[in-house]
Amino acid sequence: MILVTGGAGFIGANFVLDWMASSDESIVNLDKLTYAGNLGNLASVRDDARHTFVKGDICDGTLVASLLDRYRPRAIVHFAAESHVDRSIHAPGDFITTNVNGTFSLLEAARAYVSRLPAGEQPAFRFLHVSTDEVYGSLNAGDPPFMESTPYAPNSPYSASKAASDHLVRAYHHTYGLATLTGNCSNNYGPCQFPEKLIPLVIANALAGKTLPIYGDGSNVRDWLYVGDHCAALRRVLEAGRPGETYNIGGCNEKTNLEVVHALCDVLDSLAPAAASYRQLIGFVQDRPGHDRRYAIDAGKIERELGWRPAESFETGIRKTVRWYLDHPDWVKDIQSGAYLQWVERNYGDRPSLPGRRA
Ligand code: NAD
Ligand code: DAU
Repeated sequence: MILVTGGAGFIGANFVLDWMASSDESIVNLDKLTYAGNLGNLASVRDDARHTFVKGDICDGTLVASLLDRYRPRAIVHFAAESHVDRSIHAPGDFITTNVNGTFSLLEAARAYVSRLPAGEQPAFRFLHVSTDEVYGSLNAGDPPFMESTPYAPNSPYSASKAASDHLVRAYHHTYGLATLTGNCSNNYGPCQFPEKLIPLVIANALAGKTLPIYGDGSNVRDWLYVGDHCAALRRVLEAGRPGETYNIGGCNEKTNLEVVHALCDVLDSLAPAAASYRQLIGFVQDRPGHDRRYAIDAGKIERELGWRPAESFETGIRKTVRWYLDHPDWVKDIQSGAYLQWVERNYGDRPSLPGRRA
């Protein structure tokens, strides 16, 4: 049995589904169901007795302690977080509450739980913390990619809150001997991603004939990893990672945002052709404040030590992703509720367009 937090969100739900497909071990899934949590992501395991869903907050130490005592998991896999950079710019408070205080609360519950376990069971327990490459800050063109030894330099309220949570995890290993593992991963994409993030936003907007908003000049660079590859990396880290270690996880797929949007338009043109190419919908808008220039990951450590490499190329992953959104119009429609429309209005409503720029 393992306890997953945030397993109704994008990566957490993909992890739960992959786990159920490849393991007999049960999962307790604790999720607050914020705007980003969606039980529809878990519909295929609704009647599976190996999956228990609990609606609740990781900040609720009493609830977490009772779940640990009741289900006696051998590991916690911690995904729950506020995860969107733009939302952290508009409203940073939730990020501190969940990402910092929530992770602290979970670590405290885990520490107390391990101390209550019989001595023989204690060494097997693991706390796997799911984190981001954004904690390392921003690279210039030509800089070497992030390594596990790269100093932390977070630039947004989101990345600062994740950096704080990483430091707490590190401290709980160093001070209390909690067997922690941390994965710092690059940008994920794939099925069930909430359409506030670049790739699902562009697919949803394109299919609705709306503008594809590119911040600034579209030359910021991200490293893209298919979500199934991230889940496989996390399973491998949980299985064989060394307690106290951190592992950088990336796709070796650096792309400018404009390249990503062009690739999406081209796949959409072939799978769902419209009267004109979807590229016509591209529009440049005012940049994100403090927009990190470039992220790139050196994933050599996880490959050398744990034998993990991504299976999916950007081309195959993007095609699968577009196919999934085309095959799930109801999922997209359900998400685009009043709350989603309010967010779109807040983030894009009075954002000036940059008409001089060309796609
Ligand atoms: P998401 O926003 O899609 O999902 C987050 C989930 O956590 C939701 O189901 C939400 O309901 C839940 N949640 C939020 N606050 C909670 C709380 N207080 N208690 C319990 N549940 C709560 O996020 P995601 O993109 O799936 O990211 C998952 C994790 O992976 C995050 O920790 C994120 O920082 C990290 N990460 C994400 C990416 C990426 O590209 N999306 C890359 C690297 C790391
Ligand atoms: O690097 C890992 C991180 O990747 C994760 O930790 C975060 O949880 C995840 O949200 C993601 O952060 P980004 O800010 O890189 O992802 P996002 O999809 O929001 O943006 C990707 C790039 O696209 C970024 O350079 C900003 C740009 N962008 C984004 C949106 C939403 C646009 O140009 N237009 C947009 O409308």
